[in-house]
Amino acid sequence: MEMLPTPHSDCMTQKGILLAGGSGTRLDPLTRVVCKQLLPVYDKPMIYYPLSTLMLGGLRDIMIVSTPQDLPPLQALLGDGAPLGIRLTYAEQAHPSGIAQAFLIAEEFLAGQGATLILGDNLFYGPLDTFRHALRLERGASIFGCHVADPGRFGVVEFDAAGRVVNLVEKPSHPSSSCAVPGLYVYDGTVVERVKRQQPSARGEFEITDLNRSYLRDGQLELRLLGRGFGWMDAGTPESLLEAGNFIATIERRQNLKVACLEEVALNRGFITPAQFEKLIATARNPDYRRYLEIVLASTSPVPPTASP
Ligand code: TTP
Repeated sequence: MEMLPTPHSDCMTQKGILLAGGSGTRLDPLTRVVCKQLLPVYDKPMIYYPLSTLMLGGLRDIMIVSTPQDLPPLQALLGDGAPLGIRLTYAEQAHPSGIAQAFLIAEEFLAGQGATLILGDNLFYGPLDTFRHALRLERGASIFGCHVADPGRFGVVEFDAAGRVVNLVEKPSHPSSSCAVPGLYVYDGTVVERVKRQQPSARGEFEITDLNRSYLRDGQLELRLLGRGFGWMDAGTPESLLEAGNFIATIERRQNLKVACLEEVALNRGFITPAQFEKLIATARNPDYRRYLEIVLASTSPVPPTASP
């Protein structure tokens, strides 16, 4: 008899939040009627990429936060997650009042548990061991650091001479390092209370950098550097959206393997059984996508497939 995967997260101390709202101003008019996170990044909607990152970390209980007008199409695309062996719930952010506001919206969902937040327009490509280690966190917060050419667009880490983190600065006009903080953050169960104590910034937002600073002040912030072999992209501008699409296309065509194929991730993580995966294959409308899923299934069986798609 086939064993059914358990419905709870592998990662018992963390729930996932995928923040997929915002205004998408920099992508207007693309985002006038379609939300940013539904725009294509090569062959998939953008939101597949951050969702797959959470799933690859072992997170199965995930809340998607978005604007009132964008929640219905997101929900139509992803549903309740059951066919992928995950649980997706949805919550409104009435106004884009900052990334950290997501924790206030998700208070009931989190019920005192720790939370991993990922931004819906951030794409991660590479070994996820660093992320998985961070998810074992019991106390404090883990953020990540990436070397970038244009740190002034992001939250930037300030180091002292000994390489210790001394400050985090949001979009500095004169960045003191090239180490930017990507949109993936792991927090302990104190996160909601911390945001409740936060004041909105001059631009009226609950700033994620202020939240990270509160952990830093308490000596509870861990920065984990993602090495050069790791790719992080955000897709919030026309240029970066195109670059992200080209990057994914290059990798997929070279390897004949898909990035962020949710069905494949669910099977490989053991969230669904091969029998459940077969049901997903039956619903694939695109013959190429279906063929890919068939090869994935065959390659998990004892006899590896020989034919290429
Ligand atoms: P941003 O790219 O900082 O903001 P934006 O999406 O509103 O775009 P623009 O600056 O072009 O107007 O947001 C990063 C991610 O966080 C993105 O996925 C949207 C999401 N977000 C929210 O869901 N709610 C918010 O209040 C903010 C500020 C961002």
